[in-house]
Amino acid sequence: IDIKTLRGVTGGVTTIDPGFKNTGSCESAITFLNGEEGILRYRGYSIEQLADKADFLEVAYLLIFGELPTKQQLEKFHADIKEQSHVDEDVKKILDGFPKSAHPMGVLSSLTSALVAFNPTSVNVDSEEEMYNAIVKIMGKFPVLTAWAHRKRAGLPLDYGNNNLGYVENFHKMMFHRPNREYSVDKKVVDAIDKLLILHADHEQNCSTSTVRIVGSSHAGLFVSISAGIAALWGPLHGGANQAVIEMLEEIKEDGGDTHKFMEKAKDKEDPFRLMGFGHRVYKNFDPRAKIIKVAADDVLSSLGIDDPVLDIAKGLEKEALEDSYFVDRKLYPNVDFYSGIIYRALGIPVEMFTPMFALGRLPGWIAQWREMRLQKEPIGRPRQVYTGETFREFIPVEKR
Ligand code: ACO
Repeated sequence: IDIKTLRGVTGGVTTIDPGFKNTGSCESAITFLNGEEGILRYRGYSIEQLADKADFLEVAYLLIFGELPTKQQLEKFHADIKEQSHVDEDVKKILDGFPKSAHPMGVLSSLTSALVAFNPTSVNVDSEEEMYNAIVKIMGKFPVLTAWAHRKRAGLPLDYGNNNLGYVENFHKMMFHRPNREYSVDKKVVDAIDKLLILHADHEQNCSTSTVRIVGSSHAGLFVSISAGIAALWGPLHGGANQAVIEMLEEIKEDGGDTHKFMEKAKDKEDPFRLMGFGHRVYKNFDPRAKIIKVAADDVLSSLGIDDPVLDIAKGLEKEALEDSYFVDRKLYPNVDFYSGIIYRALGIPVEMFTPMFALGRLPGWIAQWREMRLQKEPIGRPRQVYTGETFREFIPVEKR
């Protein structure tokens, strides 16, 4: 049915669907999600196979352009990204203006938006070539900004990376390389980050992705659409949950480790506390990403020789929830954020950087969805409402009120 027919059929009736729980906003060929059965596929490939066999840049190419790249296509994509990875020196002045305590998600959203000022040609993109140029620019500059947001907070001088390294390894260097020291990294660490980025790379029309598509639908440009997506991701009900999970697990540990007490709190409707990392709008079964991350958390911690008591607390909560009728009846299972923070922490990534890590992983998904929206020539996003306010009222001058 085309939009005109639909309008004719409904005769202008506006449906109301708070949170868009039952509203499809677009047709999309990027990510398939079956929440009842816990299936997730990018462009038809299962998340399990991609997490196991692919690398993040390959997955980014797949999401954005629809096919797994050939070796040459991947090399060209990487070369084009590297070519565009420099960030204007003046962006550093903006970074300097932030207080050290600023949350890196706010910094990242602001700097991503500021990139427009330094790359004005990336705004009006209509042709596929112009889109491609904007895409490789943001793919190149975003890891730099993410790493800089971390270094600013950590009080470290900025690192310019090394373009001879792989995409993810170079990001790791920009995050962690200490001045005047040799840079080296355990391959297991890079592989673990790569896997986490793949698992976060797209998830169809979630809150931040819908934001990217709706901002982009006004033809506002890729960088500001991504900047808006970062802001949406920041919230604790969305990407911010990964930070909230580890803080919750720490709180349970500090409190003596009584998981049952916190389960009861989560069930109490008078108490605003929710079990962070549990529940999902679409998954009414195990989040397949959580299954992979749980195994990865065990692997990473044991191969790095780390014994983190919060992993046991997390497993204890999961076990209890799976046997508790409140969680079972509402089909609340661990989501992608439940175990990811434990791995991030084991890799030396500070808590405030968990959500920026999610943003870095989600970047190709946001790009792919924005590109698809533009190529499909979707109309501007503009939902209707059901007005519940006053009817007509005569204006009363201030002295008579
Ligand atoms: N702890 C306790 N109760 C919960 C939880 C939770 N984590 N999640 C949902 N519920 C309950 C609700 O209170 C509600 O109960 P009711 O039917 O008795 O009123 C029922 O389960 C349904 O929950 P809704 O909030 O209506 O579901 P919705 O789809 O709107 O929200 C959300 C999904 C936001 C993810 C929710 O489950 C939640 O807040 N989870 C915790 C935060 C979190 O982990 N967010 C990350 C999601 S994944 C991601 O964005 C990457």
